[in-house]
Amino acid sequence: MADTTTIVIFGASGDLTQRKLIPALFNLRCKQRLPTNLQIVGVASTALTDADFRARLRAGVDQFAVAPFTENEWNDFSARLFYRAGARSVTDFKTYARLAQSLAELERGEVDRLYYLATPPQFFADIVAGLGRAGMTNESAGWRRVVIEKPFGSDLASARALNQKLHQTLDEKQIYRIDHYLGKETVQNILVSRFANMVYEPLWNRNYIDHVQITVAEEVGVGHRAGYYDGVGVLRDMFQNHLLQLLSLVAMEPPASFDADASREQKVQVLKAIRPIAMDQVEHHTMRGQYRGYREEAGVARDSQTETYAALRLFIDNWRWQDVPFYLRSGKRMAEKSSEVIIQFKQPPHLMFPNPRERELEPNRLALCLQPDEGIHLRTQAKVPDTVADLRSVDLEFHYRDSFGADAIPEAYERLLLDALNGDASLFTRGDRAEIAWSLLDPIIAAWHSPDAPLLATYEPGSWGPLDADEFIARDGRMWLRGCGRHVKEK
Ligand code: BG6
Repeated sequence: MADTTTIVIFGASGDLTQRKLIPALFNLRCKQRLPTNLQIVGVASTALTDADFRARLRAGVDQFAVAPFTENEWNDFSARLFYRAGARSVTDFKTYARLAQSLAELERGEVDRLYYLATPPQFFADIVAGLGRAGMTNESAGWRRVVIEKPFGSDLASARALNQKLHQTLDEKQIYRIDHYLGKETVQNILVSRFANMVYEPLWNRNYIDHVQITVAEEVGVGHRAGYYDGVGVLRDMFQNHLLQLLSLVAMEPPASFDADASREQKVQVLKAIRPIAMDQVEHHTMRGQYRGYREEAGVARDSQTETYAALRLFIDNWRWQDVPFYLRSGKRMAEKSSEVIIQFKQPPHLMFPNPRERELEPNRLALCLQPDEGIHLRTQAKVPDTVADLRSVDLEFHYRDSFGADAIPEAYERLLLDALNGDASLFTRGDRAEIAWSLLDPIIAAWHSPDAPLLATYEPGSWGPLDADEFIARDGRMWLRGCGRHVKEK
């Protein structure tokens, strides 16, 4: 990393900057992981002075940063924060010309620059074009990288068009498409569990695994984001990025090395092997729901058909995974916040224990607990003491907080910001991956919006989703599982 660096945040008056980006940068500063000579310049159309901007961010740091807030740390950090108001329209060239001038005055010399686009997605292409026209993406006086927030397009056509527009100004290696799930410790640990241990990988295939479940359940509803969310829905909001990324990590082949190209290539390969769901098969492989009361929320259309819950069954056509179903589900207003991956193994081929017939043996289950109680649980059989051979399922558990301490897990944005500054794109989405993910979802979205669309089920807020979702998986003789938390519950 060069010693002089500027981070320019577009959309700096928004929520993401206040709640996530600046607290993460503050934490990194306290850990002394940022370049010594760093300035952070916020840009947005709101009229603010540097002092207003700092005051606003101070509140965010106080509330959301992990590092203890001290006046000294804050004074040192806030002296690096600046604000430059841009024009109302992102296509107004004056903004970029003025910004270029203003940055040159702050930086005085060669500098590396990270542009972070924390704006609504419809502005991404224009901002990059504006930066390009103002000569601000030219790398002759230091590197220039652009972090693009989500969502990256809303279907294949728009993602492709966005990629094309970005590539008119930037080289792919300058583009960092963010998916904050990849910055989560537990998500990074999926590859470590699989490839730094010998016990799992020999079993990690169709011969031993019955099926895989990936659940990302949220307790919250759409809240103040209804304007964005309604018409988008959970498939676009959560599956295109987070859930398919999790699936890639669980299912990909081992890359030969830890570099960005090798691992991103394997992730793309596995997505390419997912069997596409044709429009006339959508009813068979997917189901969707909306929580009761969603249509009464502020900003939601009274007749909204937007799904707040979805479940998919996917197959991966390759040697490792042929015929192993991957069930993915995610929803808002569910019983609790919980993200987990469950690998359910097959039953042993023969049981010689005289376990009572009515008590069916639970198969082994490996649960990767991504949040909130981060860890790993392995459901295994044990003999009940003082019986001849009664069996009971017990959990072998690893909890991050026990092994590494309660505050060991940093915010996902810390790692991602640091990686972008260090030029490591491993945890960022490659352009072709975004397009392939959309190509898988487009037929589902089209079928859901067609005149003979399958049912939009309703579910109670605070439940585990629509009853139809239980029937959906029960058709395959399976049920939704919970594997994390201190007390293992089923459903
Ligand atoms: C975002 C979605 O990408 O992820 C939100 O837009 C969702 O709708 C959020 O709430 C969930 O992230 P996390 O880290 O809280 O699981």
